[in-house]
Amino acid sequence: MSQKNQTLGEFIIENQSSFKYTSGELSRLINSIRLAAKVVNHEVNKAGLVDIIGTVGDTNIQGEDQQKLDVFANETFIKTMTKRNIVCGIASEEEDDFISINSQDENHQNKYVVLIDPLDGSSNIDVNVSVGTIFSIYRRVTPIGTPVTLEDFLQKGSQQVAAGYIIYGTSTMLVYTTGHGVNGFTLNPAIGTFYLSHPDMIFPESGKIYSVNEGNYIHFPQGIKDYIKYCQMEEGDRPYTSRYIGSLVSDFHRNMIKGGIYMYPKSSQNSNGKLRLLYECNPMAFLAEQAKGKASDGFKRIMDIEPTELHQRVPFICGSKNMVETAEEFMELAQKKATSF
Ligand code: AHG
Ligand code: MN
Ligand code: MN
Repeated sequence: MSQKNQTLGEFIIENQSSFKYTSGELSRLINSIRLAAKVVNHEVNKAGLVDIIGTVGDTNIQGEDQQKLDVFANETFIKTMTKRNIVCGIASEEEDDFISINSQDENHQNKYVVLIDPLDGSSNIDVNVSVGTIFSIYRRVTPIGTPVTLEDFLQKGSQQVAAGYIIYGTSTMLVYTTGHGVNGFTLNPAIGTFYLSHPDMIFPESGKIYSVNEGNYIHFPQGIKDYIKYCQMEEGDRPYTSRYIGSLVSDFHRNMIKGGIYMYPKSSQNSNGKLRLLYECNPMAFLAEQAKGKASDGFKRIMDIEPTELHQRVPFICGSKNMVETAEEFMELAQKKATSF
């Protein structure tokens, strides 16, 4: 069969044997994410038509207002995985604590935990701009058959078994990795099937796009300020183009296809930046590395960071390898200058 006509369902079955552990559980898990993605996609597409836009009134643990679609996406992904008895634990950006599944049933054999940002870029919902879902999958580290503990979720990104995102954009795509490269599938909404449209996605080594919320420039560390000036300088293939959607998923997706760098640095207001290590940075870092890109906190590899709490934030620089390395050089140089005084 031509690779291009392959559906996500066929792809999952065909590649099941390449997983390290071939119990079929991971395949069932990705299948359940595929199903939830279609349900959320349907709702996202209706957002302009029905009175679903707006703030529920709740405030999530980060102190942000929850949009109705955040709640819907959160419930849909959690329900889909819980009801089908597929994972042993879920942690969500929208939940204060992790959820233990089947904790009363000593016979349950589920091995995987999922961490999820159910709706990324939620401030874009009411202006009809692309949003996404990000997921990250690990094998539990505590014994099978016992209730999950925090330890199962606080694993380094390098321990991820799979990660991916769904982008609800001009078309809806599911992009994921199980550690064997990155593949992208586009939803045909007429028949509700995802098709392999972007096999073996690769970040160009260098690019011409930089994505950062420059409104925060004044608060950025000196190294980031210097790198932004470097991007704007007229020299060689520069100046680069600035593109910032405000949905990590969408900015990442564009940069992976065209070549570019995404930055959410720390600032004088947020000492660890804004993005969450477990729900956003680690899964995107896994995808970036699998697509031959890079992800760093400015000094070290994102996936080497030892997590200490569920909702931990971290500075994030991610994208084309050469661009991330140059940004890191600017960070290091600025740090050296600051400490030499
Ligand atoms: P979320 O909607 O899940 O809270 O994530 C939004 C994140 C990320 O997707 C985006 O790139 C960034 O926040 C935008 O933040 P600023 O508005 O501060 O630039
Ligand atoms: Mn997010
Ligand atoms: Mn979110």
